[in-house]
Amino acid sequence: MSRIAYVNGRYVPHREATVSIDDRGYQFADGVYEVIAVTNGRLVDEGGHLDRLDRSLSELSIAWPMSRRAMQLVMREVIRRNGVTNGIIYLQLTRGVARRDHPFPVGVAPSLVMTARRAKPIPASNLTKGVGVVTFADQRWARCDIKSTSLLPNILGKQAARQAGAYEGWMVDNNGFVTEGTSTNAWIVTDKGELITRNVSHAILNGITRLAVIQLAGDNGLKLVERPFTVAEAKAAREAFTSSTTNPIQPVVAIDGAPVGDGKPGRIALELRRAYEAATAQGGVNG
Ligand SMILES: Cc1ncc(COP(=O)(O)O)c(C=O)c1O
Repeated sequence: MSRIAYVNGRYVPHREATVSIDDRGYQFADGVYEVIAVTNGRLVDEGGHLDRLDRSLSELSIAWPMSRRAMQLVMREVIRRNGVTNGIIYLQLTRGVARRDHPFPVGVAPSLVMTARRAKPIPASNLTKGVGVVTFADQRWARCDIKSTSLLPNILGKQAARQAGAYEGWMVDNNGFVTEGTSTNAWIVTDKGELITRNVSHAILNGITRLAVIQLAGDNGLKLVERPFTVAEAKAAREAFTSSTTNPIQPVVAIDGAPVGDGKPGRIALELRRAYEAATAQGGVNG
């Protein structure tokens, strides 16, 4: 089945899909995005993703290009036309097309692009053996809570991690505390069995999977503390893991080459992953 993209009101073959070179997304990264998982044909935590999209748009004063209901219908049509049962849908909204000039253009409609694709299989060894992360300075701007398409520090960080043979890079603030991964939220489990993830602020993206893990932790009687943790504390932790839409809960077994706990995927991470998979088969944890 050939891929179909939605571009500003039209469904077009993916390879022929184009946007204007004057689109402010292209010129300034003046836009936001969402990635939503499709599992067994259902959108996972759709409500949470659309709420976050609404927040990102409003923080940047970009209008919705259509009603939320209409957007949901287009999303379903994009998934249907691409024959995606298990995969993702990608939504990108920008301030629109205008002559290149920094101030917001007046009377310009926002641009909306959607694509969908089937899931890339996650290597089995990710779960059986776990993965490593490396740490480096967080070089991003001061509003990482906005899911902006401006991802230069994130892609540079991910590339550096991959070149170091690691799955992910954990970014570290000026005070030595881990903010988050380049495309994931960061978690540890302390010696006392407490689940720790950084509290929400302008320093991190409030992951929808993060919110789901918080909910599942509560449902499973785990003690959760939302607070910053240092790299040293993470290295001394019993377990570590990452969370994200595309790989919900990924055990981390090494940080900067040093083993975490016994160097094997942690029990709590694997339990949370199983609980997450059970919930997403029903459409997700936070609707
Ligand atoms: C910087 C960053 N943090 C966290 C996440 C995880 O968010 P979510 O669980 O909504 O996929 C992402 C996902 O793209 C991200 O880019």
